[in-house]
Amino acid sequence: MTTSPLHGKHILLAMTGGIAGYKIAELTRLLVKAGATVQVMMTEGAQQFITPVTMQALSNRPVYTDQWDARPDNNMAHINLSREADLMLVAPASADAIAALAQGRADDLVSLTALARRIHDCPLLVVPAMNREMWAHPATQRNIAQLRADGATVLGPVSGDQACGEIGDGRMLEALEIFEELGVFLAPKALAGKRVLVTAGPTFEPIDPVRGITNHSSGKMGFAVARAAAEAGAEVTLVAGPVHLDTPPGVKRIDVQTAQQMFKAVLPLATQHEVFIATAAVADWRPTTTHDQKLKKVEGQAGAPTIEMVENPDILATVAALARPPYCVGFAAESEKLAEHAEAKRLRKKLPLIVANLGPSTFGRDDNALLLIDDQGQRELPRADKLSLARELIAELSKRLR
Ligand code: C5P
Repeated sequence: MTTSPLHGKHILLAMTGGIAGYKIAELTRLLVKAGATVQVMMTEGAQQFITPVTMQALSNRPVYTDQWDARPDNNMAHINLSREADLMLVAPASADAIAALAQGRADDLVSLTALARRIHDCPLLVVPAMNREMWAHPATQRNIAQLRADGATVLGPVSGDQACGEIGDGRMLEALEIFEELGVFLAPKALAGKRVLVTAGPTFEPIDPVRGITNHSSGKMGFAVARAAAEAGAEVTLVAGPVHLDTPPGVKRIDVQTAQQMFKAVLPLATQHEVFIATAAVADWRPTTTHDQKLKKVEGQAGAPTIEMVENPDILATVAALARPPYCVGFAAESEKLAEHAEAKRLRKKLPLIVANLGPSTFGRDDNALLLIDDQGQRELPRADKLSLARELIAELSKRLR
């Protein structure tokens, strides 16, 4: 299923001089694979690092390198190229290119086109790449601040190893990171102005310092939901149990371990959000006491310790029962009678919407199939990758919020 926000978009990709140019070859491949068209233009500096032949082969379009290119009938590449683009991406953006853009210069094809574009129809995204001293220089910082003030979006840079052998800020984002940021930028903003709180992952209920009770939830569905909500323009807070997943771009993350910690993190935030999506697989019970020291087997003594358990608070039901609750979406992982059990859960917890899935065929997997149940009835979202499903869920949710 292709639901990438990049599908059908036309990207004007302007490369300026920098060793990070090789990452843009990979980015172009990702964009084309996602169904975007990519028109590359390169400054003379960019061509010192990677050739127009490479970029033409990857983008499947002739590359523009010269403002005096006689190919366009009207000889105005700078006008034509920016008029047909959904956005202009300058990557890598050298310190010199950033200075030229900040000043509104027009002495090469890239700066000329950036100046000639319709600023509201063709937004400018800039991906800096340079040595740390060049990035930290007050002149560059002044130019970047000016670009932002003029409405440009600046992606990165990050800190890390640099081609010059130094370590610090100025390293360009990786191809996949730029690709994901573009997806966020272009996604329809159905949740603009909304704040969305998401729980994700399992909880871990300690028995002693080395053992505990947990479950197979990977957090992938919840992280995909948080990502899709952010793509749709929401301000997203993600309360995550113990998982090894990267935080989606633009999402604020709070890490917790136990159900009680998740409860304490969620409750004060719930009323500050318009939507609460509880995807976490919260442990129903926890050991009544957590032992300070590891429980030891006693030599010669048969039998096993009895672990006494106490019920955890139901986070979702508590939020849904608040005087002015956010719009609450529950998840129900069942092993049989999916619709029946999920609907019973929805009514019991007083939720406007519940999302049912079969536990054994979702935990840890990259794909899933969902059944949405609300007052109006049921809607099936057939098996697909979790991010595609999350995007569909967010689209369904935003319809219900209207
Ligand atoms: O009752 P059950 O655990 O199956 O309900 C699942 C839904 O309730 C999920 O949305 C889950 O995140 C939420 N839940 C919760 N706190 C609990 C147990 C479940 O928020 N203690």
